[in-house]
Amino acid sequence: VSWLEKTKETVASEAVKHVKDGFIVGLGSGSTAAYAIKELGRLICQDKIQVKGIPSSSQAKKLAVNAGIPLTTLDEHPLIDLVIDGADEVDKELNMIKGGGGALTREKIIASASKQVVIIADEKKFVEKLGSTFKVPIEVLDFAFVTVFKEIEDLGGLPVLREGNGKVGPVVTDNGNYIIDVDFGPINKIKDLNQELKLLPGVIETGLFIDLADIVYLGKRDQITKLEK
Ligand code: 5RP
Repeated sequence: VSWLEKTKETVASEAVKHVKDGFIVGLGSGSTAAYAIKELGRLICQDKIQVKGIPSSSQAKKLAVNAGIPLTTLDEHPLIDLVIDGADEVDKELNMIKGGGGALTREKIIASASKQVVIIADEKKFVEKLGSTFKVPIEVLDFAFVTVFKEIEDLGGLPVLREGNGKVGPVVTDNGNYIIDVDFGPINKIKDLNQELKLLPGVIETGLFIDLADIVYLGKRDQITKLEK
């Protein structure tokens, strides 16, 4: 097992320590969040704590079912106690780019509905400015994607339609939409950019997660750094 996989497991275990008996827990997506789902399942089975999960994607749902985590919905629990999720980039203010796994819309809804958001990632995800190493994923209605493409170019971005592996053509999200990955370069005014993008008709959600994370555990080779709001 590589140090990277080990570190993902370590930060995931650290995050799961925030879970208390009776909690409704938002389950993030991606390879790091997958370790947290596994660990939470182990805790539920071994320590018999009463926890219910709300998955942010079909991936998280499948993992949670396999791990033995009872599931619930936002309809039943519009207020969540804790979300554990990964990230593609994190800055020192704990703002993030997310959506590498295409689950950004549900992830953002769950994070916004949660009392506490704990993010887990390896140190390579930490950047001075968002947009330095990762493009901004944007979920768009397929009907609108060519128009949105043009408008994003007018905003100075370089958009690429996300295509799948194992299927020709665009990636279709769990919500039935397309994903556009946009290279804006290092972003100076993330709030302004997020607002401009959200105003484009056809844009469902952006991968810019601003003021949502409370704690970030960053895994390094031999230690974990905890960043807090
Ligand atoms: C999915 C996400 C993931 O949390 C993000 O892509 C990080 O994934 P990984 O832990 O596999 O690096 O936002 O939409």
